[in-house]
Amino acid sequence: MRTVLGVAGGIAAYKAAHIVRRLRELEHSVKVVPTANALNFIGAPTFEALSGQSVTTDVFAEVEDVNHVRIGQEAELVIIAPATANLIAKIAAGIADDLLTATVLTTTAEVVVAPAMHTEMWHNPATVANIATLRSRGVHVLEPAVGRLTGPDSGPGRLPEPEDIVAFALSAKEGARGAVAAGGEEPPPTAGGLAGRRIVISAGGTREALDPVRFLGNRSSGKQGIALARAARAAGSQVELVAANIDSGLLRTLPADIDVQHVESTLELQAAMRAAQSDADALIMAAAVADYRPAATAESKMKKSGDDGLTLRLVQNPDILRGLVDDRPESQIIVGFAAETGDPDTAAVDYARAKFLRKGVDLLVFNDVSSDRAFGHDHTAVQIIGSRAGETFVGEEFHGTKDDVSQKVIEAVIDQLTHVESTT
Ligand code: C5P
Repeated sequence: MRTVLGVAGGIAAYKAAHIVRRLRELEHSVKVVPTANALNFIGAPTFEALSGQSVTTDVFAEVEDVNHVRIGQEAELVIIAPATANLIAKIAAGIADDLLTATVLTTTAEVVVAPAMHTEMWHNPATVANIATLRSRGVHVLEPAVGRLTGPDSGPGRLPEPEDIVAFALSAKEGARGAVAAGGEEPPPTAGGLAGRRIVISAGGTREALDPVRFLGNRSSGKQGIALARAARAAGSQVELVAANIDSGLLRTLPADIDVQHVESTLELQAAMRAAQSDADALIMAAAVADYRPAATAESKMKKSGDDGLTLRLVQNPDILRGLVDDRPESQIIVGFAAETGDPDTAAVDYARAKFLRKGVDLLVFNDVSSDRAFGHDHTAVQIIGSRAGETFVGEEFHGTKDDVSQKVIEAVIDQLTHVESTT
């Protein structure tokens, strides 16, 4: 994909180097177009080396190439990160006094803006109005992250992490592609395959409170569930995400029209899934659910007492997936996840096959975690287990990013929905 990365003159401009690298890993051809001020923070040679393309800021350089219109016309995606208050104001006003603003004014590609500035500037009515203008024109604006800013101050205004910006931009692009798929412009394999459907996805990891400040939890980041939500949305589905303790930066990478329900504990997750079950075409349980919770939660912070250690009494949590399978409406597809390890007697995949049958799901996405490829990483390897005509099948091992894997899972869901409809 031909992607333009616009970089404005803010301290976060250095993070743009990581964005170029991430886009190159994803095989984008990247044209970096900084403003003159951006080059006070990071040098053009850095961008040239990382992108493999020349870098200019001004419309009077390389005039024979008519860059001020060509770059925008040829772009398939334009990302501006960081976008300063000044640059946002210029774009909102339609000013084109350098190569970046001219590019934005000429492009018909999706434009994604990741603002970064001091909190006061972000909240200033001028910026608020400019952002509203950009959004009303279809520009995708990623909310800034909350955290430490350049000085000792902190608040909303930080540039989100490079991989989150790239994920947000790609989902914006995918959403737009889904919308124009009817026009036949390179639709992704699943484009429109879930149009008119409603998919409910659980993601993240549950936390079981011990007292007001402590909990038992797990390391699930929620990346897989977020990627599934994006893939389902790109395939045209209405999506509800039940999010168990997912970092807010990651949640910001979701398309704005995905409903997010926040839950913390297993019992809350169960209630949210059950409430969402009746009108869903498919449920995907990607959340890592605690099997046990403390028998009691202390109302105030537990105090240290003596040297004898502490014994916690745990009680078993319900198997949410099992309950959903038992109560499902006819023709609803239910997908479970299974992270398994093998042992000398039994391969991990055989444990997964047994789990598929025990849980009664339509599809089970199995990943072998013996090799530590799952939690928090972007790459993973899965096999999809399902059944046809009473026979269990185990798909080929598929390697890829969590976005690639999600695409595969969504393809399998579409396949299953089509199969169920053709046999009922
Ligand atoms: O049995 P196991 O925990 O390996 O099963 C994993 C699958 O079951 C995942 O889809 C997970 O979301 C779901 N699960 C559940 N309720 C539990 C435990 C797991 O729905 N208590």
